[in-house]
Amino acid sequence: MSIQEPRLIPQPRQLGLVDGICVLDDHTTLEAPPGTHHLAQHLRDITGLPLPVAAADEAAGENTRIVLRVDGARSHPESYRLTAGPGLVTIEGGAEAGVFWGIQTLRQLLGPEAFRKTHPAAAGPAWRIPAVAVEDEPRFAWRGFLLDVARHFMPKDGVLRYLDLLAAHKLNVLHLHLTDDQGWRLEVRAFPRLTEVGSWRARTKLGHRASPLWDPRPHGGYYTQDDIREIVAYAAERHITVVPEIDIPGHSQAAVAAYPELGNTDVVDTTALTVWDTWGISPNVLAPTDAVLAFYEQVLTEVLELFPSPYVHLGGDECLKDQWRASATAQARIAAEGLGDEEGLQSWFMGHFDRWLAARGRRLVGWDEILEGGLAAGATVSSWRGYAGGIAAARAGHDVVMCPEQQVYLDHRQAPGTDEPVPIGYVRTLEDVYRFEPVPPELTEAEAARVIGTQANMWTEVTENQQRVDYQTFPRLAALAEVAWSDLPAPAERDYAAFERRMTGHYLRLDALGVDYRPPSGPYPWQRRPGILGRPIEGAPPIV
Ligand code: ACM
Repeated sequence: MSIQEPRLIPQPRQLGLVDGICVLDDHTTLEAPPGTHHLAQHLRDITGLPLPVAAADEAAGENTRIVLRVDGARSHPESYRLTAGPGLVTIEGGAEAGVFWGIQTLRQLLGPEAFRKTHPAAAGPAWRIPAVAVEDEPRFAWRGFLLDVARHFMPKDGVLRYLDLLAAHKLNVLHLHLTDDQGWRLEVRAFPRLTEVGSWRARTKLGHRASPLWDPRPHGGYYTQDDIREIVAYAAERHITVVPEIDIPGHSQAAVAAYPELGNTDVVDTTALTVWDTWGISPNVLAPTDAVLAFYEQVLTEVLELFPSPYVHLGGDECLKDQWRASATAQARIAAEGLGDEEGLQSWFMGHFDRWLAARGRRLVGWDEILEGGLAAGATVSSWRGYAGGIAAARAGHDVVMCPEQQVYLDHRQAPGTDEPVPIGYVRTLEDVYRFEPVPPELTEAEAARVIGTQANMWTEVTENQQRVDYQTFPRLAALAEVAWSDLPAPAERDYAAFERRMTGHYLRLDALGVDYRPPSGPYPWQRRPGILGRPIEGAPPIV
């Protein structure tokens, strides 16, 4: 096996190449801190080597030792130092997470074969890596990926696979969009109809909502609570936090279809509603009643049992206010609470759950609409309609995750032209994502520190299976990973040519991982779709 050039993604802070090589083989031993079995197992899975645990004085002669170490005195818990040379690999992390990220770098040094599920090393050949010294730490604490499993369900194994893909890119947040107008994907023991009724729709709009086509097959699926426990545990082993999103008070038609009393029953006959079969923003939003608050408190009680994440995302986006305007119940609530208008009512809704979560030691995250009508005291804002919401939130002393749709919505087309499969939204190329800057220059240093990170959002209206999700997500998620992790200069100064060169190595890793990424040369013929499914590019608004 030849020695691979590093071509690391994301780029580490410092990479020193020194003379020499390091060989890992069947005789290589491992020294690891107590309680880190899964790190050792992870290394065995990657290398296919037995890697028996041995203390320094037991390691035999010429054989290479891998030493994993946690040093709490390091600058940052996720930082690591990786050194490899003849006979010794050392990975020292500020905490176990740092060691884990260091292992991801080692995996890239091993070469693309280390990204296969089974590889020749299992049969014994040695791995050879260049002698290196890497010093590294992340720029942001929140390095995320939103996966919309509501518009199109992704079965559990697909989510586990995505967790592997995130880990390989040093991303550490999976924002799981579990509920929407088109489907409810989480088993809630207290309310079985949420999944019995809410997880299936009778048919699905095929392509963009203006397309005249339908897929007449029912679509559905949900995660049992056991599935969720498995996903959360799998993520935790990879130092990834799963942030659940339960969208309120809009994007709730599936819930209302399952439990009609959740809707604005004095305005529409909610018993006639079904899980929505097309795209856009449904007017069927939650009613601002005590019963609805109590219902969602019960839902969230189960959510908190399942998800240890300090953050719980409660949506708050695109809540159409027409039904509230027409509803005597909603108007009475506005008057009784002195809320002023429907914006105030939305704020009241989110504020209730902000306090409810805070009382349980958790923090609410919401889309930037939660700024309208007043931001709940402890809320973190996902800034999606551009930078403005994030800037306002940071200035008001709130934490921000920057994910503007103009830059990092991965459902949007990644090239101009008619070739892209189901082209929607803005054209955002790999280079555009590489030049995305999460911290807008107008923020002061103190305000900038409120930007705790960034994420790319993968909405799935027009991506009905894993291949389509892969195509939209990769390679652009690799660029986002570098933006989130590496200490890149200002956008105009970023060396995109160097990134592209490193990507030539990274495509081989994605191949080995079985990722159906968009090839740099453009879509294969079988990936193209008839234009009728997409949206013309001229003046296309970004909304699906
Ligand atoms: C969103 O894209 N509605 C958050």
